[in-house]
Amino acid sequence: MDEKKVMLSGIQPSGDLHLGNYLGAIKNWVERTEEFDNYYFMADMHTITVRQTPADLRRRTLEQLALYIACGLDPEKNTLFIQSHVPQHAELGWVLQCYTMFGELSRMTQFKDKSAKHQDNINAGLFAYPSLMAADILLYQPDFIPVGEDQKQHCELTRDIAQRFNHVYGDVFKIPEPYIPKTGARVMSLNAPDSKMSKSIPEGCIFMMEKPEDIQRKFKRAITDSDSENCVRFDPATKPGVANLMSIYAAITGKSYPEIEAEFAGCGYGKFKPAVGDAVVECLRPIREEATRILADKAYLENVYKTGAEKASYVANKTLRKVYKKIGFVAR
Ligand code: TRP
Repeated sequence: MDEKKVMLSGIQPSGDLHLGNYLGAIKNWVERTEEFDNYYFMADMHTITVRQTPADLRRRTLEQLALYIACGLDPEKNTLFIQSHVPQHAELGWVLQCYTMFGELSRMTQFKDKSAKHQDNINAGLFAYPSLMAADILLYQPDFIPVGEDQKQHCELTRDIAQRFNHVYGDVFKIPEPYIPKTGARVMSLNAPDSKMSKSIPEGCIFMMEKPEDIQRKFKRAITDSDSENCVRFDPATKPGVANLMSIYAAITGKSYPEIEAEFAGCGYGKFKPAVGDAVVECLRPIREEATRILADKAYLENVYKTGAEKASYVANKTLRKVYKKIGFVAR
């Protein structure tokens, strides 16, 4: 039998899911459902490296799962789980910390950024976070890990840790390859098109559960460009705001850039911006409604995450047993 390749990814429920998560990641995951054996999880353990409000963390974790499903990730065909429900992550995370060098962790740009931002809480977890992420990945022996620009360095470190471990103990971990999806938009902030869409700039961020009128308002206020051309033309270098709106529109409608330019020829931004807003509103409407329905069905949601954790744990445990044996822990 031809075994499917294994793919794995996670998103931290530290903020509400937004259009960037959807168009940049989740939509691709849905398209890959049949091609790969997939593991997708809510990385709740990672979020506590920064202080969280407990009730919000709980709500966002469940909402993220409901949204995964509402976006089309079929829980029968994808293993969907909550990281903290699979204790092997914490267990392997500890082991791998002992195979990660202080110098390596010190060089992580995300650590440098986050410790600059949270100077009053530069905790050991924030520092060791990449070792836990390596455990998240290596437990499932995946072939591919998707590389978002900001996670590239952590993925490379994961490979280094795996190679270091294998060098001592033999082939325990599969060395995962970075995966660059063929399609998929890198969505930028609507009001700061040089930075990635993120919850930290809420006015430039479209949240998945947001009300249509709020979405429209944000699109109407989106930054277009500083020249006075007022023409829908794809030129990321000089018109990053317009290019971003075009790539959102393209990702949702499947239209090419020349098609979009033709559609809005002579219209100006006054027509273009609300049209993109409409497309987004209509794309998100059924997802939001379905997520709301799923969230109200507590028994269903619970069944999904319990089944997911069981499946994940079964696979993760095989890797963990092997690791424990290799390093000399007495079998239970
Ligand atoms: N660190 C990732 C982020 O902040 C989330 C994450 C945690 C992850 N573990 C992972 C992503 C494993 C891919 C694979 O976005």
